[in-house]
Amino acid sequence: MRVAVLGAGLMGSAAAYRAKAVGFDVILWNRSIEKAEKVAKELNIAASGSLAEAVSKAEVALAFLADDDALLHVASGLPRADGLIFANFSTVTPRASAAAAKVLEGRGICYIETPVVGGPRVLREGKAIALVAGPQRCFRAARSAIDALSSEVIFVSEEVGKASALKLAYNNLLISYVASLAESLALAESYGLSPQDFKGLLVKTAFKELAERYFDRLLEEAPPGFKLSLAAKDLEYFCIAASEKHVAVPVACSAAQLYKLAARAGLAEKDYTSIYKFLKDVGVRR
Ligand SMILES: NC(=O)c1ccc[n+]([C@@H]2O[C@H](COP(=O)([O-])OP(=O)(O)OC[C@H]3O[C@@H](n4cnc5c(N)ncnc54)[C@H](OP(=O)(O)O)[C@@H]3O)[C@@H](O)[C@H]2O)c1
Repeated sequence: MRVAVLGAGLMGSAAAYRAKAVGFDVILWNRSIEKAEKVAKELNIAASGSLAEAVSKAEVALAFLADDDALLHVASGLPRADGLIFANFSTVTPRASAAAAKVLEGRGICYIETPVVGGPRVLREGKAIALVAGPQRCFRAARSAIDALSSEVIFVSEEVGKASALKLAYNNLLISYVASLAESLALAESYGLSPQDFKGLLVKTAFKELAERYFDRLLEEAPPGFKLSLAAKDLEYFCIAASEKHVAVPVACSAAQLYKLAARAGLAEKDYTSIYKFLKDVGVRR
């Protein structure tokens, strides 16, 4: 299959690696061409700084873009490309996803949203969980590309926006959980308890799996797998999506503010688990 990967960030690079590993013909596009060229050289694939060139021979475009603006910027920058499938793996608002679908429809491009649960490491191994919404026929046409990246594919709806809503619902839980874990750990430590005292309790409870997965990542200041700025963005999008349906989500919106503060304090490019470091530093300063 011929695929164009749009976005050479952490996720796009991982997807390009996986697509090449399963034998696809891959071309990598990025807004800043230097990044695409660097990754493409490492993977021995083609790179382009031109969207038109990147999709000219592709059957499916796989988009891994930061946010709503990036998605709409790329969708508006694409030329007419009859028959191309645009699979959007980025986490965006349902509204932006529907807007991108409309822009692309006018250019003969069929849009499906395919947000994934799982970070770059999981994607490189082809083990993400893909949530799909959009026309069934376009899903079928892009299926082998989605399968290459995922161990589970859940078709959510023909209605674009529903997979994005499901992804935001999931990410709110995960990102808010990490902030709560960080707060609880900081509180326990302030009373002279060790991280192991707290983890020792968690692993005896329903939080066992989550504690084993995230506890050490908080403490060791892991290299970025999921940037803190994107976690802040996801919570903000969750709040926007909720307000459009008049759903009250005060916990998520207050967690969004916390992550935004941390991003502004210089942690935007760090892993989102750096929220623990931010809380500790704020605590020390007060
Ligand atoms: N990392 C994860 O664990 C994870 C997991 C699931 C889903 N996601 C989602 O996947 C998407 C990509 O995440 P990532 O971790 O790969 O982020 P990333 O490393 O920050 O990469 C972001 C990409 O978006 C591009 N971009 C930003 N603004 C743009 C604009 N206005 N126009 C065109 N391109 C633009 C960047 O291009 P430049 O290089 O030119 O800045 C880069 O290629 C996000 O929506 C994220 O929420 C991430």
